[in-house]
Amino acid sequence: MKPAPKTYHVKSFGCQMNVYDGERMAELMSAEGLTHAEASEADLVVLNTCHIRERATEKVYSDIGRLRKHGRKPMIAVAGCVAQAEGQEIVRRAKVDVVVGPQAYHNLPALVASAARGEPALDTDMPIVSKFGALPSRRKVGPSAFLTVQEGCDKFCTYCVVPYTRGAEVSRPWSAILDEAKALVDAGAKEITLLGQNVNAWEGEDATGKMQELDGLIRALDRVSGLRRIRYTTSHPNDMRDGLIRAHAEVESLMPFLHLPVQSGSDRVLKAMNRSHGRESYLRILDRVRAVMPDIALSGDFIVGFPGETDAEFADTLRLIDAVGYSQAFSFKYSPRPGTPAADMAGQISENVMDERLQALQAAVNRDQAAFNASTVGRRCEVLIERAGKLPGQMLGKSPWLNSVHLIGDHAIGDIVTVEITAAGPNSVTGVERLLTPA
Ligand code: SAH
Ligand code: SF4
Ligand code: F3S
Repeated sequence: MKPAPKTYHVKSFGCQMNVYDGERMAELMSAEGLTHAEASEADLVVLNTCHIRERATEKVYSDIGRLRKHGRKPMIAVAGCVAQAEGQEIVRRAKVDVVVGPQAYHNLPALVASAARGEPALDTDMPIVSKFGALPSRRKVGPSAFLTVQEGCDKFCTYCVVPYTRGAEVSRPWSAILDEAKALVDAGAKEITLLGQNVNAWEGEDATGKMQELDGLIRALDRVSGLRRIRYTTSHPNDMRDGLIRAHAEVESLMPFLHLPVQSGSDRVLKAMNRSHGRESYLRILDRVRAVMPDIALSGDFIVGFPGETDAEFADTLRLIDAVGYSQAFSFKYSPRPGTPAADMAGQISENVMDERLQALQAAVNRDQAAFNASTVGRRCEVLIERAGKLPGQMLGKSPWLNSVHLIGDHAIGDIVTVEITAAGPNSVTGVERLLTPA
């Protein structure tokens, strides 16, 4: 038994949706009257975990050990995807006080109260009625905020745990999303990134009862006054429909950036991954996107060393990267996950080969990222200021294409400043303020 906590700390790992969930859990604990504290001092520490790769999962256990150093015994709640996947096993292995899954965290206050009474506190249910209705409203956020509009995944790629940890695909209702967007803008957001495991699978009825897809939702958000920028992530190639592609040309606040993971450039590997799109069909989608918005910045996710991947198949992935010219990309070594079909496939690839392939892939992506940054030199664009830089007078923000821009100027966080990009490095570009309209 531990006394009821007075202070809390939430630490999130993994994807942007976990960041969003972490913010919502923090708001929930604040609404319960707890105050925020550093992890090393808080009475209650919520570890909002990620299960996507083995390393992410193991981190949870090392973190729990660290929290208990120097004889400290905070109440520990494990939330997120490891909580969902491992459930009771975490209590057995690490004797934590609370375990709560990603669809049940609205029950966190009740679980914390149970733990304080010395009762079991585990909830990994996936209730039909969503958690969102039971969460307090948004109060204070930065200039760029996340908003979950869709959760879960029905795609079952053979390597991936997300369909098991987040459950089936569910779209949040139209009016709940618009209300939250308005609350975020009132709380200081200028930019909202719509989140979903397959965000472009979002669908729902609008206020008049008409069925809408993500592009309809984006068009409605575009009319929210004070909301200057809209982004969305992560999209699945199979849900990249014409309406959404057209929205990129027609909706001014929709930023010219598309994160569209492909994972591999080899049709055989894509089939074994159960991706249900091929190399050509993926490239044709990008052609359609570039036809309406030639300067869109493209991003992707890649897995190297999927079971059975040959040198020639990996070379197909490098060729795909050459063909696309990404402005950025995330790449991972394949990690076998318990309970997924790929974990039992023949031809698991050695760590050495995966290391070599990852290096080669990252070199290609870095080359393209630097080339993309260089291609923006001379362009004028708006920058959303997100924080102060290290140098005196320096501010950091994001261009419409999501590259980091640093500039010297007297601006507040959340200002939108028109700059000309004057120089480019591998990871960021330099902007100089211009009083001209974007061109
Ligand atoms: N729903 C999104 C992203 C899901 S997870 C999509 O389908 O694109 C984010 C990324 O993690 C994936 O795109 C994939 O590249 C990577 N990933 C997922 N499972 C993995 C595994 N078992 N090993 C290595 N990388 C993995
Ligand atoms: Fe995982 Fe595939 Fe679903 Fe993405 S689409 S979350 S990679 S199963
Ligand atoms: Fe990780 Fe769960 Fe996100 S496994 S990547 S936190 S959906």
